[in-house]
Amino acid sequence: MPTGSRSRGPPTPVVGVAGLGYMGLATGLAFSRRRVRTVGYDIRPELRDRIRAGKTPIYEAGLPELLRGEIQSHRFHVVDGWADLVHGADVIFLCLPTPRGPGGRIDLRPIRQGVREAGAALRGGTEYRLVVVKSTVVPGTTDGVIRPLMERVSRRDSTTLGLASNPEFLAEGNMVQDALEPERIVVGVSSARDARLLRAVYRNFPAPMLIQSPTEAELVKYASNAFLAVKVTFANEISRLVERVGGDIDRVMESVGADSRIGSKFLSAGPGFGGSCFEKDVRALVDRARELGISWGLLSHLSEANRAQTHHATALVRKAVGNLRGKSIALLGLAFKAGTDDVRESRAFPLATDLVLGGAVVRAHDPAAVRNFRRVWEQTPPAGKSKALTFCSTVEECLRSADVAVIQAAWPLYRTWPERWTKLMRRPIVVDLRRAIPEPRRHRGGIGWVGLGVAAR
Ligand code: UDX
Repeated sequence: MPTGSRSRGPPTPVVGVAGLGYMGLATGLAFSRRRVRTVGYDIRPELRDRIRAGKTPIYEAGLPELLRGEIQSHRFHVVDGWADLVHGADVIFLCLPTPRGPGGRIDLRPIRQGVREAGAALRGGTEYRLVVVKSTVVPGTTDGVIRPLMERVSRRDSTTLGLASNPEFLAEGNMVQDALEPERIVVGVSSARDARLLRAVYRNFPAPMLIQSPTEAELVKYASNAFLAVKVTFANEISRLVERVGGDIDRVMESVGADSRIGSKFLSAGPGFGGSCFEKDVRALVDRARELGISWGLLSHLSEANRAQTHHATALVRKAVGNLRGKSIALLGLAFKAGTDDVRESRAFPLATDLVLGGAVVRAHDPAAVRNFRRVWEQTPPAGKSKALTFCSTVEECLRSADVAVIQAAWPLYRTWPERWTKLMRRPIVVDLRRAIPEPRRHRGGIGWVGLGVAAR
């Protein structure tokens, strides 16, 4: 067994992390911070160099400090090949991407490739290794696809090779805390030995460990994300009713969520959910159910309900300014939510598209996500409209002479909304899709505030 920390009790196994993207890096650093020796590997050499130099590849609060601290602690280091990873670690976590492939299905190619590489590196060895799938894969994949492939390539069986599932629940913008202090650790194992190994690597984490089969653990991940997406969509649908019958969605949901059977989180109405997980995971789950002949009423309509909410957000803007043609619109917030530079499935794309196709000129701002948004937008601008959207480096520049400002992501900067911002606009209308501006500022200084989920006064 590679030498782990021996401070108390039996040695803690050494952890290996394959794939140092968003999730792998946060996961590996959390192990290291919890005093577990950790080795990381990624196939991208430039990423390995960046991480070794203490530079994080993504915008994520607290991650640069955590990385620098763990490099200095000498508990975390990056190796240059699969062989070094699988020989240097007892428990190897696969944190490889599972992008959406053709037809919306998840694309298992990066995982299969990783499994083949890891399997080849494990060939011939006799020391026990546990490979843990952390990537999100549809229920049944660890046992039905990854295990046979791994056993065939490595020429090992369950006497020297264990396979487990351990889904992650990290939310972007809060990854460091979620990785260091998870609410629960879900593991799916096939033997008591593997459960013991996972207990040992998570020994220093203050969270309950829920042990089940690999397929059940995979189901937990999908069911959790689907449930959260349902909660958001539920709040979104109620918000449209609130706008018509009177009231404020936040006050309504605060009281709804005060019932502990419901819970107060994920009930904040907005322009629809975005991000790399919800849409992808719900689709994959619905597809899998359909393949098995199961027809779902609730989950199979979730994506459609989410798109309807984004159209509703555009409709609010149209209503606020009248005809969009020739109007100057300041779009504030391009990330899929505040606190990240990630624009995957951001509602800012369909919103901006609807606005420019309606004839508006859009100036966009985001404190962190402009570069990522610009890259995607420039690859696929709506037909003939590539110049109808430009980017600004300050909110002031964005608001100057605008007919309306639209807040798509609730960055703290937008919450400050000083009166001088209102004065820069040609018409001082703000369509606040997240109710980011605090209540006392909403109607101060001549601002015409329109809140998603808030009835007009
Ligand atoms: C999600 C899960 O939360 C996480 O556990 C999983 O590992 C990955 O997927 P993430 O996609 O980073 O995390 O973001 P999350 O905070 O869940 O938000 C997803 C989307 O829902 C965002 O667009 C967000 O703005 C929206 N949302 C969330 C709301 O509109 N209202 C809410 O109340 C909460």
